[in-house]
Amino acid sequence: MTSHQKVKYVLGVETSCDDTAIGIIDSSKNIKANIVLNQNNYHKEFGGIVPEIAARAHLSFIDIALKKALKKAKIKLEEIDLFCSTGGPGLIGGLIVGNTFCKTLAWSFQKPFLAINHLEGHALTARLLYDDLNYPFLLLLVSGGHTQLIAVLNYGEYIRIGTTLDDSAGETFDKAAKMMGLDQPGGPLIEKLSKEGDENFFKFPKPLYKSKNPNFSFSGLKTAFSKTVNNVDININKHNLAASLQKTISDCLLDRTKLAIKIYKQITKSHKVNLVIAGGVAANKKIRADLKNLSNKEDIKFYVPTLELCTDNGAMIAWAGFERYKLKKDTMFNFKPRPRWPLDPNAFKNNPTMRLVGKKGIKA
Ligand code: KG4
Ligand code: ZN
Repeated sequence: MTSHQKVKYVLGVETSCDDTAIGIIDSSKNIKANIVLNQNNYHKEFGGIVPEIAARAHLSFIDIALKKALKKAKIKLEEIDLFCSTGGPGLIGGLIVGNTFCKTLAWSFQKPFLAINHLEGHALTARLLYDDLNYPFLLLLVSGGHTQLIAVLNYGEYIRIGTTLDDSAGETFDKAAKMMGLDQPGGPLIEKLSKEGDENFFKFPKPLYKSKNPNFSFSGLKTAFSKTVNNVDININKHNLAASLQKTISDCLLDRTKLAIKIYKQITKSHKVNLVIAGGVAANKKIRADLKNLSNKEDIKFYVPTLELCTDNGAMIAWAGFERYKLKKDTMFNFKPRPRWPLDPNAFKNNPTMRLVGKKGIKA
């Protein structure tokens, strides 16, 4: 296997959840194609993603996604120099489909293959778009599966500052939407309804708000929301319910980010902060605007990917793979997909955040 070849085109495959996505980028950071085939209709009647259905749907969509991506990029498969696929974390069936597909292509063209951590894909996306975003930066990663604050010190050097103790922000949007009888994914629908709602109409609890613990918790909010939904006429109140929920989630994200900024400054021993938001929930315009305001107030630079690059896509996997390949020039044909794959392997031991925060919390 030739692994030291010069790279012009990179292919990224993303199949960790319910989107079959293939992106192609070039070495000058141009996104040549970013095809996302979603499976929403397949899962609709079950009210959530069914892993077995997702895996089978990936199997039937992946060929189509590849053909569409090559057509859009106007290149041939043999012109791809580096093949990258999400290796985890995610649903194992989909991961196996994506990895096997991508590995086989790489093997048959004698090109390198890389398995990329899905969270790393989200984490580094903003660097694909912004040339001035150098390491280190503070990342707020808000997706369906994760809500984390991470100090990204360098490629491959991640320190998890905080994570959710229960549900993720995306899950909270999705479950709330389900309680209101809306389709999945619920986040975009809640955002749409919020536009005509009063965000101060309902007061929901904000677990861990203003605490010195840098983690998130959303399960109390979910329970309170469910009680309210059961006690009001959803149809009459849907706009206010959505807007109030969206505001509460945004307030929690902002408050924890404020604390993380302090911790990040201690970790990096610097007052300079670049803040990046990533993951599907980062597509939410209110959350983006609130974080932008916070950044202006705190005099920090804020970077946010375009909407299509916030939600799951193949270009982010291609970019993270390209970053890795430039540094390591390796290939990973022996990789086995990992349903669990933390970005920070030391998240539970020797974590500087835990040392800084200690039992009493950081001096805020
Ligand atoms: O990153 P992502 O596409 O997939 C995962 O890796 O999980 O994130 C999906 C999550 C879902 O929970 C979805 O409801 C949420 O992102 N989401 C949004 C919006 N768009 C997607 N949440 C709030 N507002 C949005 N506009
Ligand atoms: Zn994701």
